[in-house]
Amino acid sequence: MNSKEIFSRSYQVSPGGVHSPVRSFRSMGCDPVVFSEGKGAYITSVEGQKYIDFCQSFGPNILGHRDSEVQKKVCSVFNKIWTLGALDPYSVELTEWLVDNISFIDKLRFVCSGTEAVMTALRLARAYTGREKVLKFDGCYHGHVDNMLVKSGSGLAGLAESSSQGVESQIVSNTLVCELNNLEKVEQIFSEHGSSIGCVIMEPLPANYGLLVQAEGFNEKVFEIAKKHGALVIFDEVISGLRVGFEGMAGRLGVEPDIVTYGKVIGGGFPVGAYAAKKEIMDHMAPEGGVYQAGTLAANPIGMVAGLATVQKLKEHNIQEKLENKTQAFAEKINDEIKKLGLPFHMVQYSSLFWLAPDIGRPIRSPHDFPAGMAERFAKYFRGCLQRGLYMAPNAYEVGFVSWAHSEEILEASAHIMIESLKGVDEHH
Ligand SMILES: Cc1ncc(COP(=O)(O)O)c(C=O)c1O
Repeated sequence: MNSKEIFSRSYQVSPGGVHSPVRSFRSMGCDPVVFSEGKGAYITSVEGQKYIDFCQSFGPNILGHRDSEVQKKVCSVFNKIWTLGALDPYSVELTEWLVDNISFIDKLRFVCSGTEAVMTALRLARAYTGREKVLKFDGCYHGHVDNMLVKSGSGLAGLAESSSQGVESQIVSNTLVCELNNLEKVEQIFSEHGSSIGCVIMEPLPANYGLLVQAEGFNEKVFEIAKKHGALVIFDEVISGLRVGFEGMAGRLGVEPDIVTYGKVIGGGFPVGAYAAKKEIMDHMAPEGGVYQAGTLAANPIGMVAGLATVQKLKEHNIQEKLENKTQAFAEKINDEIKKLGLPFHMVQYSSLFWLAPDIGRPIRSPHDFPAGMAERFAKYFRGCLQRGLYMAPNAYEVGFVSWAHSEEILEASAHIMIESLKGVDEHH
């Protein structure tokens, strides 16, 4: 069976043929490639074609696909237990490791996805503060939690509109939305609603709708304003946590979020999410406190062992720092070529993340800065890369993930493929 046949079968039995919308290639102008294997930096399609993979499952595979050391440890627990719904030593080991390596958390609880982590963090913040409103930023993604599926409404400052059908209007009315990179608006929203805002949730490194590195001081200032009004700050570090360093963006910025959410890297390629905070906050969770949250498959032993093996390896080899240097050199090389050729793009890089942005002559810090026609040009670039054996997330706004398995040689070859594909985007080149 080839990709086309499998997709058409899938299309009959799943909405859009996929289990998460972006996988449909909807805006890429081609059908999805269907992959059946992955190792290191590569994935292989059902046709047997090998691709360099910069999607890496949208972030969990910081060591690449099926890292051999992680796999060995996963196999050892696989032969003992799959799931048991009771306390096991594996979850304790990973929790202790994280609490020891992340200075601003005392306690952590595992769930099965980033979405679940965010949903619970918000519930916990509401319970802790006794306030129901939450402020989020346009351009930050926090999973498909009902009250996070919102965008700025027209009209009054900060009022939200749902961005998905089926979300209760009552829930949306408790969410306030602010532009990124706009401190004035943050101040304004707080001065109007401050006493009812329980928390601010933010991706301290917005990496779901472009890689929107914020101006220096922005996150810290939001933090300060929230604190002044008695609101908690939730850092959603589902992408950045453990990737940009063990303490994530919080560590880099030198701030201590009240609650932090994790996903992706924390499960080493298996479905794991988590939320964490100081004891004083976390002890509001059942059975210690009155905030309910539970999960049949939470802290699944396989994910726990994979997560622990992953973070231990990251630490042992100082991988995050090395990855950052590698990714920086990779982005610089591409930017040099882009400049030489006079192409209207810029490769944005932060830590081991990169994003091909349109060149607007200044850093893009908010979706409001996106120029028209961006998605169409990306689709052309994407198809060019795919034809040349390089895969990335099939969406103009998703970031690329460099893994430990992306060697210098692979990155060199990738830079070449990307430049050749970029040349094809503009007809003049
Ligand atoms: C910052 C952030 N929060 C939450 C989520 C949702 O996580 P999940 O897809 O595991 O539910 C994501 C996923 O991309 C994310 O990047």
